[in-house]
Amino acid sequence: MHFENKTIVITGASSGIGYSLAKSLPKENCSLALIARRQYLLKNLINESKKEGTIRTYQCDVGKVSETKLTFEQIKKDFGSIDIVILNSGVSLRTDIRKYSSSDAKEIFDINTLGIVNCVEQILPDFLEHKSGIIVGVTSLAESRGFPGSGFYNASKAAASLLLESLRIELKPYNIKVITVKPGFVKTPMTDKNEFHMPFMMNVDKAAKIILEGIKNEKKVIQFPFPIVLGSKILKFMPDWLFDYLMSKKLPSRKDKISAV
Ligand SMILES: NC(=O)c1ccc[n+]([C@@H]2O[C@H](COP(=O)([O-])OP(=O)(O)OC[C@H]3O[C@@H](n4cnc5c(N)ncnc54)[C@H](OP(=O)(O)O)[C@@H]3O)[C@@H](O)[C@H]2O)c1
Repeated sequence: MHFENKTIVITGASSGIGYSLAKSLPKENCSLALIARRQYLLKNLINESKKEGTIRTYQCDVGKVSETKLTFEQIKKDFGSIDIVILNSGVSLRTDIRKYSSSDAKEIFDINTLGIVNCVEQILPDFLEHKSGIIVGVTSLAESRGFPGSGFYNASKAAASLLLESLRIELKPYNIKVITVKPGFVKTPMTDKNEFHMPFMMNVDKAAKIILEGIKNEKKVIQFPFPIVLGSKILKFMPDWLFDYLMSKKLPSRKDKISAV
């Protein structure tokens, strides 16, 4: 697969991984529709790339169904059709159990999980009709277990991964490819907030390169870096008693230093 002459939508392109993807793609001679809430940051990408005609920006909260619908309608008007969507928008939030709040959960699920659902709803009829298209969803290796302090985030990413997995199988007969991206720690504004040690932290441009190579090679799951992939597999199959023991040992000293990749 190549990106040349394709129309690619990227959500969450104003910062971090999405920004780096959007910065690299103009070299591939494709058209880009960039979505985020902070449009002034998206505009920088147009200025940097100097490819005004083929890059357009759209202010949209993907957690809102009506905004997402209008945005995708506009993208289709502007570009004619969409070939690839990279659904990367996401938020992380460390949660203090003493301030447990359904509104925190709602915000995280609205963006990390339903944001993907909302975008897929807009492109799926066209993809089904044309029997083509690629859906890329960015989840996280943090989906492997329920880590203390980031339960909402872990659960939102696990739900998104399972949704993408089922879509991958259901959409195969329609020649629609579904790719799940599961990063470990990547240096972005999201992880800049974390105060704890983040092992094997990856440079954002390197992460974007791995993601784009993975999409080109039509991998089912793009996960990196290897040591964190291995660690997350070990954690996933670890007996509950051992996982609970290891996590509870962290509790007294962790306070705000809770993992959320
Ligand atoms: N960095 C890591 O270590 C890491 C690890 C695993 C997974 N991930 C995942 O990778 C993705 C990108 O994260 P990042 O590290 O690049 O974080 P980031 O720098 O904070 O970027 C997040 C992007 O999501 C957008 N976004 C947030 N809420 C949105 C909404 N309601 N509607 C539309 N766009 C929204 C933000 O744009 P606006 O605020 O302008 O809307 C921003 O462009 C996320 O899904 C994250 O969970 C990151």
